Amino acid sequence: MSRVASRSRRSVLAVPGSNPRFIEKARGLPVDAFFLDLEDAVAPLEKERARDAVVAALNEGGWGDKVRTVRVNDLSTQWTYRDVIAVVEAAGGNLDCLVLPKVADAGHVRWLDTLLTQIERSVGLEPGRIGIEAQIEDARGLVNVDEIAAASPRLESLVYGPADFMASVNMKTLVVGEQPPGYDVGDAYHYVLMRILMAARANGLQAIDGPYLQVRDVPAFTRSARRTAALGYDGKWVLHPAQVDAANAVFSPSQDDYDHAELILDAYEHATTVRRRGAVMLGDEMLDEASRKMALVVAAKGRAAGL
Ligand code: GLV
Ligand code: MG
Repeated sequence: MSRVASRSRRSVLAVPGSNPRFIEKARGLPVDAFFLDLEDAVAPLEKERARDAVVAALNEGGWGDKVRTVRVNDLSTQWTYRDVIAVVEAAGGNLDCLVLPKVADAGHVRWLDTLLTQIERSVGLEPGRIGIEAQIEDARGLVNVDEIAAASPRLESLVYGPADFMASVNMKTLVVGEQPPGYDVGDAYHYVLMRILMAARANGLQAIDGPYLQVRDVPAFTRSARRTAALGYDGKWVLHPAQVDAANAVFSPSQDDYDHAELILDAYEHATTVRRRGAVMLGDEMLDEASRKMALVVAAKGRAAGL
């Protein structure tokens, strides 16, 4: 199985690296993945202390089979290289991926790939062990997204960063995840979401939706998550325990869809091997090779979710 296919990211929990109480709480939440944040959830004066706290949290363990990730600071700051070196040297064996925010071009990803290769060699980690997740959250990142998505075999996902993105293009709203008032002719985010999804899929990567900031409004979170799940996104960031179950449910197939997908796979397998036919009927439904591929996507997600 490829490194990407083997990791589930229906719910990706954001945890401020400088907050021990949140770190402790995160261990017990049923999320697929989490990232300990050194970037925007950590105040500049706390950056150095947060590195130590993040290293300790990874090395103490207790994370079960969650995907363990750290978000370093972006490359326009003075902190990034030390973030990477400090975390990977001291806790690389207990870390799966780094999240690189505000990726503006492929050079950013290649920089991180090279640095990771050096650290892995230096401390004796398996080569290529640490994956990369690239946040697309400004206009430059979006126009360069194809090159970014192809920049390194370490890449596992592209992550849409709605808050920074909205700020970077001067959107006239303060509510992340909702349509900007005044834009009444469709979905203002459709192009961005599709652009990221296409670049991700064309390069075999996962596509992850970013946060929904009104954390107590679970129905609104669920609505927002349903939209990106419908397009094909694999998961969404969660900022609060209340959002976790909703994310896991929305990014898993329903039991009915999963059962139907397995039925299609069985029926089509029988049709092609025993009856030697490429197109068959299942009840009133016509199946061909494309139906099998669609069913495979749903079945794989359902099996990963334990349905
Ligand atoms: C996440 O990083 C965002 O900017 O939305
Ligand atoms: Mg951001």
